[in-house]
Amino acid sequence: NRIGLLFGGRSAEHEVSKLSAANVLRALDSDRYDIIPIGIGRDGRWLLCDNGNGGGRGATSLEIPEGSPQVALLPGGGGEMLVLNGDAGSTTLNLDAIVPVLHGPNGEDGTVQGFLELANIPYVGSGVMGSAASMDKDVAKRLLRDSGLPVVPYLAMTPRTRVDYQTAVDALGTPDLFLKPANMGSSVGVSRASSAEEFDRACERAFRYDRKVLVERSVTGAREIECSVLENAAGEIKASPLGEIVPAGNHGFYSYDAKYIDADGALLRIPAELTSDQAQRIQELAVETFKVLGCEGLARIDFFVDPENESSLFVNEVNTLPGFTAISMYPKLWEAGGLPQSELMDVLIGHAIA
Ligand code: DAL
Ligand code: MG
Repeated sequence: NRIGLLFGGRSAEHEVSKLSAANVLRALDSDRYDIIPIGIGRDGRWLLCDNGNGGGRGATSLEIPEGSPQVALLPGGGGEMLVLNGDAGSTTLNLDAIVPVLHGPNGEDGTVQGFLELANIPYVGSGVMGSAASMDKDVAKRLLRDSGLPVVPYLAMTPRTRVDYQTAVDALGTPDLFLKPANMGSSVGVSRASSAEEFDRACERAFRYDRKVLVERSVTGAREIECSVLENAAGEIKASPLGEIVPAGNHGFYSYDAKYIDADGALLRIPAELTSDQAQRIQELAVETFKVLGCEGLARIDFFVDPENESSLFVNEVNTLPGFTAISMYPKLWEAGGLPQSELMDVLIGHAIA
């Protein structure tokens, strides 16, 4: 099979995507797949990178070499991709499927998925609706709440409907708040606010990334537990063992820096220390969340849990194209569940082309 590995992209998670893509490339069995890396530049152009089976393997981050030729997928093309070689004209390459290793808006939010639908080419992961509904934290929470799944109380605001700190505190019932852009990942633009000044600063930061911002109640005492969900070609949906994010150093929460910049910013504890009843309940909720949001193929579902307090279990968020870096939870949880990364990729591609 000839597989297009799509990475980079226009979102603030461009660099994270390059790390994920290097790791996915390493995991793809080169005897089974002919891999064509396609880098999306920060300007949105798709470029054919020839650092594939040879050069890119072993790198920690997949790069987009200067001068790479632009490529184009055509609507109704069925996997036919034009490679634009400047004055030398164009050639075509046929792809059997695309593995989108893109995080955040313009990649994880249904836009690229819609494009691939029109191009008539199979791809790994959720379709347009599952991607879009999961990316927008406001929409995702409404759908989950409507299905009776527990979500952290929040309010959503636009620049026009922006509230002040005291109004948010009164509405949510705690002085400790989190502000997040509705559509973003890797904690980009997220901050904590416990005063009016912090709230204003947090607003300004979050609105830099989105025109919709969530103000959430901070769940005190909560542990951060994550679950990887995988759907195979037969449509069977499974939940992985659970992992816990243990904050370390002086990062107040699991921020971008704690995730990718500071090597000791957080520890992953796999499996998470929970009773088997608690673990099972979370795994069931993960699969339920996956179904409610119409996810396909894969997703990582993140929870807040206070094991001492039965009523304190919340679905925090859903990542339809979760981080796939060498230190990322999604592939690590499946490894702990007995599924090595290369076999995980086989399942994902098998689901895409089924
Ligand atoms: N948004 C990042 C990549 C994650 O969820 O892992
Ligand atoms: Mg996320």
